[in-house]
Amino acid sequence: MSVKDKMSLDQYTSIVTGGAVGLGKSMASALAEMGSNIVIVDLNRNHAEATAQELRSQYGVQVDVIEANVCSADDVLRVREETVRSFGRIDVLINNAGIVKNAKAEDMLYQDWLDVMNVNLNGVFLMSQTIGKEMIRQGKGSIINISSMSGIIVNTPQCQIAYNVSKAGVISLTKTLAAEWAPYGIRVNTIAPGYMKTELTEKFFREGGQLIDRWMSMTPMGRPGMPDELQGIAVYLASEASSYTTGGVFSVDGGYTAW
Ligand SMILES: NC(=O)c1ccc[n+]([C@@H]2O[C@H](COP(=O)([O-])OP(=O)(O)OC[C@H]3O[C@@H](n4cnc5c(N)ncnc54)[C@H](O)[C@@H]3O)[C@@H](O)[C@H]2O)c1
Repeated sequence: MSVKDKMSLDQYTSIVTGGAVGLGKSMASALAEMGSNIVIVDLNRNHAEATAQELRSQYGVQVDVIEANVCSADDVLRVREETVRSFGRIDVLINNAGIVKNAKAEDMLYQDWLDVMNVNLNGVFLMSQTIGKEMIRQGKGSIINISSMSGIIVNTPQCQIAYNVSKAGVISLTKTLAAEWAPYGIRVNTIAPGYMKTELTEKFFREGGQLIDRWMSMTPMGRPGMPDELQGIAVYLASEASSYTTGGVFSVDGGYTAW
């Protein structure tokens, strides 16, 4: 099979959590461009519907929206049932939904800690377990978890203990699932982006100042990443081109973790 054929996602069904905006939207768009039907799972129905419409008209694939919370077992079960009912199978799951709440460790409200852990780590486990059962039944699947360089290093100067710990947890979860589920034909990998210019961080870049100067001075490439700079790795990990790749942690951070 040619590399071009291996990269094709024709006839695939891919679920992208948090796919309404930002990095999730960009990765959903890349998978759609390569031929995959898409299910956007997001809390924000309006943004998700707008993105779905954009992808349908641009790429001619089927794009469904399921308004759901990745932390709710009932919602996640509904995501599996509705996706299987509409498409008959689930080839790819991108666990991208995430939140951030910054606070010094000594000041962080326990509820804020729980909220971050719930979306960023528990939600990834719940989605992986629930969708993974269908992939086990199929004997095939690719799960792509979006962690962060924050799961590898400690960001500075801002304090974000819950976010860092949740993203480190995603890396361990990825490796553990990769090891447990390799016999079922399921590959599990994680992408660890650096500072990317999206809705989550746009206001920091707009305001500029010392924080941004510090971040960029610590990034060998000296600039933030753009959402479309995750598209290549997302297509690679979703497709047959990565058939021997599992348990991997892929940094896309302009070199931040190299220094
Ligand atoms: N932006 C960055 O610089 C950066 C860097 C490294 C990692 N990341 C990670 O990439 C992922 C996407 O980041 P982004 O900047 O595009 O975020 P974003 O805030 O722009 O978008 C997140 C999306 O997730 C949805 N969402 C949030 N909680 C949800 C829940 N409980 N259930 C379902 N949907 C939910 C939101 O509605 C939103 O559409 C996150 O996991 C984030 O931690 C981002």
